[in-house]
Amino acid sequence: MKIRVALIVAACAFAAGAAQAASPENGRKAFVAHGCWQCHGFEGQGSAVTSNGAVLSNTELPFEAFEGFVRGTNRAMPPYREAILPSADLADIYAFLHTVPKPKDPNSIPLLK
Ligand code: HEC
Repeated sequence: MKIRVALIVAACAFAAGAAQAASPENGRKAFVAHGCWQCHGFEGQGSAVTSNGAVLSNTELPFEAFEGFVRGTNRAMPPYREAILPSADLADIYAFLHTVPKPKDPNSIPLLK
């Protein structure tokens, strides 16, 4: 029992360490290498393929939901298993998506008024 608790504590410490170490630079590379850009655009801004709202930049999904979707989607997006997309890369991708500046308010652009 003690060993099991110790293992869980160690696993949590490891996970927390991995989350802290998330690198937006690696995330940008992983976003390209894993092909996310093909449907979500290079900045996660969405594209014609994902016009139904799959803008990923500054996603409001908590990481657990983000990862849950990527691992388990059975809808328009193919699922990415851990063997193909390691969790460390996914944490980096998540960090990268939070470095993308928010789009301008369309009302601040005179031509679009
Ligand atoms: C073949 C096209 C395609 C590729 C490649 C793709 N996605 Fe998607 N993704 C979609 C579509 C379409 C949706 C929205 C439709 C849906 O809900 O299934 C989506 C939705 C998502 C969502 C949910 C967004 C939300 O707010 O609900 C996340 C997170 C996501 N994608 C992450 C990724 C990541 C990370 C990668 C790369 C590892 C990736 N996607 C690669 C097509 C793709």
